Amino acid sequence: MSVLPIYIYGQSVLRKKARPVRKPGEEISVLASDMIETMRKANGIGLAANQVGELHRVIVVDAGAIEESADIPPIAMINPEVLFEEGTWTIEEGCLSIPDIREEVNRAENIRVRYLDTGFNVQELSAAGLLGRVILHEIDHLNGVLFLDHLGAVKRKLLRGRLNKLERGEVDVDYPIVGNSLPATGTDPR
Ligand code: NI
Repeated sequence: MSVLPIYIYGQSVLRKKARPVRKPGEEISVLASDMIETMRKANGIGLAANQVGELHRVIVVDAGAIEESADIPPIAMINPEVLFEEGTWTIEEGCLSIPDIREEVNRAENIRVRYLDTGFNVQELSAAGLLGRVILHEIDHLNGVLFLDHLGAVKRKLLRGRLNKLERGEVDVDYPIVGNSLPATGTDPR
């Protein structure tokens, strides 16, 4: 497994729609395990393929960290789709592609999602609270949507200066990144 560099706000891949995975294969399994390794290295609880520069509909979620149980393994979801959403709640979200910015976001409280596992078996999962929230955040990424897009115009305007800095490559994180100038820390993605 390898740690992949994470694409930072301003990179166009974060605004693109990822394509459905058509067939199982080693490429997708390797991508999923690399994404799990990358998520852990960056201390994240979820990651979408767009964030490592791959436009496949693949997300990973660290369910064990979210549920605070070391016995629950991370989940890789291929072609995830939301079947059902109910309720609404607000909590602060962050994103490994948008370091140091956290804002309150409103999302559904209970969801049911259908996806393929890495063996291409159809799975369904009901998720409430934080687990459901992370899944919705990561599915947004696959559609080129960032948590910032859920904020009101006033909040977005207040963040403009900090987002401009990220776009210029002024980023200070301890994981490898792809930004607009040379990465501030971490390895050169080439
Ligand atoms: Ni994110």
